[in-house]
Amino acid sequence: MRVSCGVCGNLLDVVYDWQRLRPPDAWRHFEQKWSRRYDPLDFSGVWRFRELLPFAPDEQIVTIGEGQTLLQAADGVGKYVGLNAGRLFLQYEGMNPSGSFKDNGMSAAFTHARMTGASRAACASTGNTSASLALYSCVTRLMKALIFVGSGKISYGKLSQALDYGALTMQIAGDFDDAMARVQEVSKELGIYLVNSVNPFRLEGQKTIMYRVLEALRWQVPDWIVVPGGNLGNSSAFGKAFMELLEIGLIDRAPRLAVINAVGANTLYQLYERRGLRWNDGCPDCDTTTTYYGELDRGQLRASTIASAIEINRPVNLLKCLRALDVCQGVVREVTDQEILDAKAQVGAGGLGCEPASAASVAGAKMLRAEGVIGADERVVCILTGHQLKDPTATVAYHTTDQQMFNDVLGSRGVKRASYANRAVAVSNDLNEIIKAIQLYS
Ligand code: F0G
Repeated sequence: MRVSCGVCGNLLDVVYDWQRLRPPDAWRHFEQKWSRRYDPLDFSGVWRFRELLPFAPDEQIVTIGEGQTLLQAADGVGKYVGLNAGRLFLQYEGMNPSGSFKDNGMSAAFTHARMTGASRAACASTGNTSASLALYSCVTRLMKALIFVGSGKISYGKLSQALDYGALTMQIAGDFDDAMARVQEVSKELGIYLVNSVNPFRLEGQKTIMYRVLEALRWQVPDWIVVPGGNLGNSSAFGKAFMELLEIGLIDRAPRLAVINAVGANTLYQLYERRGLRWNDGCPDCDTTTTYYGELDRGQLRASTIASAIEINRPVNLLKCLRALDVCQGVVREVTDQEILDAKAQVGAGGLGCEPASAASVAGAKMLRAEGVIGADERVVCILTGHQLKDPTATVAYHTTDQQMFNDVLGSRGVKRASYANRAVAVSNDLNEIIKAIQLYS
């Protein structure tokens, strides 16, 4: 499958002729689908919006019930971020069948793959894309899954999914950026359908996260969407969603977009905030990017963060993300592993729990609030991209009393404190001692 232009090499984009397709001009149309939830396409949180991603006939659509996700008001986390009550919402994508937002895009990619008659699908992954591909492959039996992961680079929660679901799993001696480069070569060589977010149909499915956010807010556009940035598929998809909704006339303004990098994997931050790279009406200054990547290569700089899902230095959707930042008056920030883990502990205590990469959104919102870029009374939606159980090692290491474990897992990454730790209490196997401990600690 071709994913990039044969002339300029940039990624392809799905473009619809909305004049001809005549999508619904009122949200009411989508609300009506709730009464037909016995129909798998209307039940799906992706496909009940199918008129807004109209690339497939109904009979080809692949769904396993993705997108039953939740927008939760989270005042406790909002207070931590510095927002007034009722202003922070967490969009919890961990409720997807494979436990992350990836299923939104995977259902769309599988649909397109089925349309092309593909029998094998491949991806490189920091863990969630591979878990999603493996799950769709084993549930639908439409395609065999081939997965490339960096050796030792993905959490056990995610690796265990790929293995359990029976995907052919290749552990490449390298990191995600290496695995991404290899999988593109392999799929070209062997004619395997590629489901990474270089595939434009993935992004079509991911647009629906924004439709569900709007739906939960009774079709009112929030002031801010805050999302972690790794390969930049989500941010690109969100920008495209708002661009199209403006064109169709379903909304009259776009929210602002904040994309949050980890300090140890901050290519977008460096290029956008430090070197002024902009979309520039579709003609960004590519030399800026080439120079930056040259510096990374010469310094042998590799991405490194506890938020392994976003441990990526060469985001494939960089250009589309620049477009999204343009459409949504975007900003980019970088947050430390310490800030990520503290925010994650707050989400766990006052929200739904998430994996480290997801908490970058909350840490980033806190930073933007402290800078005064986000106002205390603005409505902010942070995207929690992955389930809390995806990476239990990071969580347990944060809360542990075992200094050795803390140092091994977190200290080595510059994390010094666990200010919001909830320590387990060690107690002897004795009723009186247990009761004493309960009285002491409660
Ligand atoms: N959050 C989680 C939990 C992720 O798994 C990813 C990406 C991101 C955020 C970043 O999203 O790439 O759209 O900017 N994970 C990919 C993977 C790279 O292979 O699972 P993005």
